[in-house]
Amino acid sequence: MESSFEIETRTVFDRYQRQQENDDHIFDRLVSLIEEDYFGLPTGSFRGLDVLDAGCGSNANASYAFLDKGARNVVSLELSNDWMDCARKRLSRFGPRSELVAGSVLDLPFDDFSFDFVHCAGVLPHTRDPKKGFEELARVTRPGGSFFLTIMGTANGVIYRCINHLRELYQSDEQFRSSIDNLDASTAREAIDWLLRTKDGEEKEYIPGENEFFRSLFDDDLFVTIRDRFQAPTYHQFAFTEVQIRGWYGECGFEKIRRISRYTKNFHNLRRFLAPMYRHYDHPLARFWFGDGCIQMIGEKPST
Ligand SMILES: C[S@@+](CC[C@H](N)C(=O)[O-])C[C@H]1O[C@@H](n2cnc3c(N)ncnc32)[C@H](O)[C@@H]1O
Repeated sequence: MESSFEIETRTVFDRYQRQQENDDHIFDRLVSLIEEDYFGLPTGSFRGLDVLDAGCGSNANASYAFLDKGARNVVSLELSNDWMDCARKRLSRFGPRSELVAGSVLDLPFDDFSFDFVHCAGVLPHTRDPKKGFEELARVTRPGGSFFLTIMGTANGVIYRCINHLRELYQSDEQFRSSIDNLDASTAREAIDWLLRTKDGEEKEYIPGENEFFRSLFDDDLFVTIRDRFQAPTYHQFAFTEVQIRGWYGECGFEKIRRISRYTKNFHNLRRFLAPMYRHYDHPLARFWFGDGCIQMIGEKPST
């Protein structure tokens, strides 16, 4: 049975994930994130595997990628049932290889050692007990299998220090909350047009392409991300550290634990210029803005 906290989490995510689902550019960008090379695996490694995509989101983009790459069976798990129509639309082409299950990572409805590859991206900070969720995911990983996790460690960087303050404002100030809730590409476009018109009226010199470039920094994908940062419950707990997560893998008996990262391509907005820091999370500039960053880790469960 879900708590009211989990229901709120699901409601917020369902709303914005459905927006992503209807936008092929965003969906394709998310699907393209799953490739063998990123996990340090040879091409074709997902063929024939049983995969769990835990906290798959309403559009189940990672599940789609694993199925597309030849997984034998992919179980997509999310809270409640309200996402299944959305995920089914995308995944139906894979037939019975795709299975949709309602449940929580805190109490997985699967036997021990059920999956060759467990994928859980961005979910645990939104649960009441992230460590318990980790242990559940570790439990269902088969000996010889891998467990991949994404968890945010951005709280000690400048951007999230600001976001975390602004999240408090979002909770307490109705006007600020309404500005964020109504933020989208079309309201932003009006503001941007006004800014550029005013600038063009005052500046003597026009730098070729400057207005087009400025406009290109803001698209719907960016505003979906910004709204998500404020609206989703428990974002303030993005204070995990790499050392802590390595420790969790070790305690659960995993080996070959490694932090990985990738270059997130295809942003058509401001994040295109942040992507180098996502990839090189250890660079001083990345540390300054994003702290421990988006911690992406994978470990293998020993075969015996
Ligand atoms: C940031 S989204 C990530 C979605 C997807 N994994 C992705 O990478 O696009 C977090 C997801 O975790 C789900 N979630 C939160 N608590 C959960 C729980 N206890 N069990 C399963 N999923 C949960 C939310 O409903 C939400 O869809």
